[in-house]
Amino acid sequence: MAELTLIVGHPGAGKTTRAKALAAATGAVRLTPDEWMVPLFGHPDPDGKRDVVEGRLIWTATAILRAGGSAILDFGFWGRDERAALAWLAASVGATAHTLHLPVDRVTQTERVARRQRETPS
Ligand SMILES: Nc1ncnc2c1ncn2[C@@H]1O[C@H](COP(=O)(O)OP(=O)(O)O)[C@@H](O)[C@H]1O
Ligand SMILES: [Mg+2]
Repeated sequence: MAELTLIVGHPGAGKTTRAKALAAATGAVRLTPDEWMVPLFGHPDPDGKRDVVEGRLIWTATAILRAGGSAILDFGFWGRDERAALAWLAASVGATAHTLHLPVDRVTQTERVARRQRETPS
C-alpha cells in the first residue's frame, strides 16, 4: 500500500536520521528539502525559494504515490491544515498519509544542533 509519511519536529529532533532509517527499512523515497536548498542556492531559504522547492517535492511525492510507491516528506513543520491537505492529496491517488512526531527537549536539541554544526556543517 502506498504511504505518505510526514515527519514533524524541531531542528535537531532527529527527523532526517529517522527518515533515512525509515527509507532504508521500507524502500520509501525520502524527500529532504535541506538536501536540495543548500546545493542549489548555498542557503536554506533564499528569497522564499524553499516554498517553491517544497511544492515541487510534494508534487514528486504525489507522482511516487500514484505509481504505487511510498514517500517520506522530511520538512519539519506542518500546520494542521497542511496535514489535512496532504492526507486529502494522498487519498486522491489511493494512498494513505500518516504523521511521525519527533519531540525533543531543549537541552538535547541544542546539543545535537551544535554537534551537527561541528561535524557536518554542510
Ligand atoms: N536518536 C538520536 N540519538 C542521538 N543523536 C541523534 C539522534 N537522532 C539524531 N541524532 C543526531 O542529532 C543531529 C541532528 O539530527 P537530524 O536527524 O539531522 O535532525 P533534524 O533533521 O530533525 O534537524 C545529528 O548529528 C544526528 O546524528
Ligand atoms: Mg533534517
